[in-house]
Amino acid sequence: MQRTPFFYDITLRDANQSLKKPWDLKEKEVIFNYLNELGVQAIEVGFPAASEMDFEACHRLAQIAPANTVISGLARAVEHDIVKVARAIEPATKPRIHTFITMSPFNMEYVLNKKPEEVRKLALDAVTFAKNLIGKKGDVEFSVEHFGDCLENLDWVISALQDVVKAGATTINLPNTVERYRVKTYVDMIEKVYNALPKDINISVHCHNDLGMATAATVESYFAGAVQLECALNGLGERAGNTNMYEVAIALHNSGIETGLQLNKIYETALVVAEMANVPIYEKAPLIGPDALAHRSGIHQDGAVKTKNMEKGAYRAIHPSLIGRSDDEKIGFTSQSGKTAVFEIISSAGYPITMQEAVRITPIIKEKAESVGELSDNELIDIYMKEVFEPTGAFKLINFEKLSDGMFRLVFSHNDKNYDLNGRGNGPVAACLQALEEAGFPQKLLHYEQQAIDEDVLGSEAIAMSIIHLEGSNGETVIARAKDSSTMKANVHAIFNGLNIIHS
Ligand code: KIV
Ligand code: ZN
Repeated sequence: MQRTPFFYDITLRDANQSLKKPWDLKEKEVIFNYLNELGVQAIEVGFPAASEMDFEACHRLAQIAPANTVISGLARAVEHDIVKVARAIEPATKPRIHTFITMSPFNMEYVLNKKPEEVRKLALDAVTFAKNLIGKKGDVEFSVEHFGDCLENLDWVISALQDVVKAGATTINLPNTVERYRVKTYVDMIEKVYNALPKDINISVHCHNDLGMATAATVESYFAGAVQLECALNGLGERAGNTNMYEVAIALHNSGIETGLQLNKIYETALVVAEMANVPIYEKAPLIGPDALAHRSGIHQDGAVKTKNMEKGAYRAIHPSLIGRSDDEKIGFTSQSGKTAVFEIISSAGYPITMQEAVRITPIIKEKAESVGELSDNELIDIYMKEVFEPTGAFKLINFEKLSDGMFRLVFSHNDKNYDLNGRGNGPVAACLQALEEAGFPQKLLHYEQQAIDEDVLGSEAIAMSIIHLEGSNGETVIARAKDSSTMKANVHAIFNGLNIIHS
């Protein structure tokens, strides 16, 4: 089914009415501009009968609305409210009056204290009145409040809606005003109404999130025939909120449906809305949560790193850039993490490390994480600096100096026994190794290199970094590094670091 979903935003009405401090005109205008940037097709700007302030806000937003955006206001099924909406949104190019009444048996009896036939008449009168007021310039939306609770009288609701459509409503909204039951129950009801009404009527869904399934109910309703999807930014709204627009948009996008929205505006919008609503985005909020891109288990970290720059990721629903998120997948190091995380965190911070070194220092980092929990990148880097550049052990370099005639003097201690030897060789590395051999510590040098230092990460006092590969007595290879302002000292220091690693 390829119908373009019609995103009808209710942030300025349903979300706004749930805020501890509802927005004033200026604040509403900020959100309104973000909604236009996102490209939603319709915006319910408020409930003009609620207060003079909301009336003014609706009026102003209708004046500045883009010509192709439907601008609507909510009204109970009473003439006073409907007139207020008509006046408030009159400047819009595409105005809509949205009127509603409950049709659930429970609410008709205990809240409205009215018989079903009285309610049907109120609905018809409201829609007829609204249609006359709005004329050809705009349209009328009718909502069955508590539709999700109309399972037992669904046939009656459908017959009432057939009359409501004849009276002039072109959008029929079927709210799950309180989410109480299964998604499938609701979606089946949507499908039944869709099949019973003329095909030129827009079926709309409006789901509250009392059980945390509003997104699922909205997405599946789209596939069952609903075209208008009433959603709110950040999932704000009464109680546990309304359907979160971002989740619906991305679920449809991932399912191959063109949403017509500027998805890359989502993240920025979410941050602004959270701030303005004074409702922080919770850590684990899908897509936009601060922790929504974090991987802490070794297995997930491995998959995340291997698929890092690919559009589809092993452990993420989208590439963050799709919603305009520039922060990358976060690799957080805990006792559950592994070598890939160590390698990724250290190398992303610009420090030199090989996977072999990451494997070596991972148990040390894990031990620390076991006692303190997640380590910050800086804590991890501190351990790396110590374990890679200053590994402690039985060998201590005390002095190394150049004598004359290719001779070098090496002073060191091993387990508190001091050695003072001369070595010869073509360069300090060979001379140091020769002196060590003489002291009874022969080492096989497999590889040696000097690297320029990135001053920003390793400190400006160091100018040289030596990297050596030594073979231990059991044949294992160790990589050791050292940095110093003297190339000669960096070389010898690296050999001693290697010794300490081999004999640790
Ligand atoms: O949740 C609801 O039923 C509503 C209607 C007024 C549309 O917000
Ligand atoms: Zn609602």
